[in-house]
Amino acid sequence: MDAGGHILYSFKLDCKSIINLYAGGAVNNEEYWAAAGEEIFWYQAPSITLDDSNPPFIRWYPDGVTNACYNALDIHVHEGRGEQLAVIYDSPVTGAKSRITYAELLDRVARFAGLLAAEGIQKGDRVLVYMPMVPEALIAMLACARLGAVHSVVFGGFASNELAVRIDDATPKIVVSASCGIEPARIVSYKPLLDRALEMARHKPKRCIILQRSQETAELVPGRDLDWQQSLQTAQAVDCVPVAANDPLYILYTSGTTGEPKGVVRDTGGSIVSLKWTMTRIYDTNPGDVYWAASDVGWVVGHSYIVYGPLFNGCTTLMYEGKPVGTPDPGAFWRVIAEYGVNVLFTAPTAFRAIKKEDPQGEYIAKYDISSLKSLFLAGERCDPDTLNWATEKLGVPVIDHWWQTETGWAICSNCLGIEMLPIVPGSPARPVPGYTVEVLDDGGNAVGPGDIGALVIKQPLPPGNFITLWNADDRFASTYFSRYPGYYETGDAGYIDENGYVFVMARTDDVINVAGHRLSTGAIEEVLAAHPDVAECAVIGIADEMKGQLPLGLIVLNAGVERPSKTIEDEVIQKVRDEIGPVAAFRQCGVVDRLPKTRSGKILRGTMRNIADGEEWQVPATIDEPAVLDEIAAVLGRLGRS
Ligand code: COA
Ligand code: AMP
Repeated sequence: MDAGGHILYSFKLDCKSIINLYAGGAVNNEEYWAAAGEEIFWYQAPSITLDDSNPPFIRWYPDGVTNACYNALDIHVHEGRGEQLAVIYDSPVTGAKSRITYAELLDRVARFAGLLAAEGIQKGDRVLVYMPMVPEALIAMLACARLGAVHSVVFGGFASNELAVRIDDATPKIVVSASCGIEPARIVSYKPLLDRALEMARHKPKRCIILQRSQETAELVPGRDLDWQQSLQTAQAVDCVPVAANDPLYILYTSGTTGEPKGVVRDTGGSIVSLKWTMTRIYDTNPGDVYWAASDVGWVVGHSYIVYGPLFNGCTTLMYEGKPVGTPDPGAFWRVIAEYGVNVLFTAPTAFRAIKKEDPQGEYIAKYDISSLKSLFLAGERCDPDTLNWATEKLGVPVIDHWWQTETGWAICSNCLGIEMLPIVPGSPARPVPGYTVEVLDDGGNAVGPGDIGALVIKQPLPPGNFITLWNADDRFASTYFSRYPGYYETGDAGYIDENGYVFVMARTDDVINVAGHRLSTGAIEEVLAAHPDVAECAVIGIADEMKGQLPLGLIVLNAGVERPSKTIEDEVIQKVRDEIGPVAAFRQCGVVDRLPKTRSGKILRGTMRNIADGEEWQVPATIDEPAVLDEIAAVLGRLGRS
């Protein structure tokens, strides 16, 4: 017990039970999560660990009272770590660098929370954050948590339409944004994108707080928009608001099978307990370590491991506004590791493929002292063994592939370096992390044997920190994830478990594709294509790409009588996807075809088209309606350089 009355719990004491859990397949051990719950600060400690009386709506620590911002900042300052660095900001695209201590960050967050409170934000209100990778994004998120308000961060690479959809669903009182973001080749003017989204949205937030960046000054709408810096001058710091453990910490929208994004809701208590737990057990970090998730605050990785996890554990988190290559060269990551003594790096395999492509021999690595680096974690997409082997050889540290999703908030399967390191098997994210029981089921819901492919499912209850529902959509939560395999969470991934208990994640079972580690819905892109006035029918498939893992490719059938050149229409739909979904969709390939290949029952044969596009062996499916259609598809894919 420390001076503040918090129970300080050493996980090493519990190592044996963890290893038992690990070896025996993860068992959801209520006592275990009760003990993990003692590692965080509660205003009122929970007397109940798990309420699973209303499945699939599982509630952890239901009568606990806590605050995420308190656990991220105040606790460390009270415990004497105020002068330690909380955030390092490094921006090769602007040349800016800064270092923020825990004490300074607490002050800035408490004052921004004061500004939000003065503008009427209270516990439970939503605040939408549409920001580039600057410390103010993290400050806005923590300020919401301080007030018990629910933030919803939207990734900067999404266009106005996607932003508008999220504004209408989350109905925020305030939007926090910036004048611009900076991509290597261009300035992305965020404010006009936001203004356009606000015109499109039915819901009208009462305020926008805009961070003016020196690269571009945004025009503010009088009476609605506030300048971040100016408004902050008179803001008063405010304290944390105690919230119930199951009060939402945030909503994060992610792609599903349709164009309607799903608002993943994460609760407060479970998030704090689980993320702090993972920082020691999975990533093996200690307070004071420098932890770098090279992602973006707009993704779940950014929420869990740029903002909350490292700060809950008293680490220094690194915010990097740049790319792995081109800012200025493929040595960018090694420069950052050397300059700040990064201990753990987490990114997507695509970043390493980009580096490897430009520097196959790893010559840039030799230019820097990266001896501080203890491990590299990869996630967001399947990690191909080539990339894993290259990184292992060049960096000389354990390279850990781990599998997780926006819904889970932290790794389902991983080598847990803070527990014991298992042998690394390229192509597998190792075994389930304690707390997850992963199984493989066939279409009928029966367990399959080792090595047999099926749907990867997780036995209920999901551990703390997993999503507790979808915003405004309890029914969709239950039907999308829990109805097909009763008693299980359906991950949407397919794969197998080998005889050693290693899990292999092979493919999605739905329309989701992974482009440069970004999750996209082909269904959403199809909706944009189908809305073009000349398009009668369309299909979007994810095709293999050496660098980005997958890329979307569209095939469109035109309405009868359309006489405009096909190329013009192809270009228009490509632009339309960029305008309506955003540049992040990376949609650049589209071809006009006379017909789409279908089964006799009218189902589009996407798998066959994908095989043709990827140059894999394919056979004419027995169920095909008109086999000749495939010849035309092959010809068009050939023209697009895809067969
Ligand atoms: N705001 C606005 N636009 C953005 C953006 C943002 N925050 N992030 C990306 N974009 C734009 C890019 O500029 C690009 O636009 P373009 O079509 O005009 O070139 C487009 O969206 C596609 O971006 P991306 O898929 O990221 O491709 P890229 O070529 O810019 O970079 C990588 C490729 C591999 C270097 C980059 O994706 C990367 O570093 N990925 C690994 C880390 C990561 O993001 N992980 C996420 C989950 S862990
Ligand atoms: P997201 O919700 O954006 O994090 O994307 C989650 C999806 O990315 C998962 O459902 C998988 O399809 C894929 N994914 C993430 N990590 C891995 C991994 N280590 N191996 C294979 N696929 C992964």
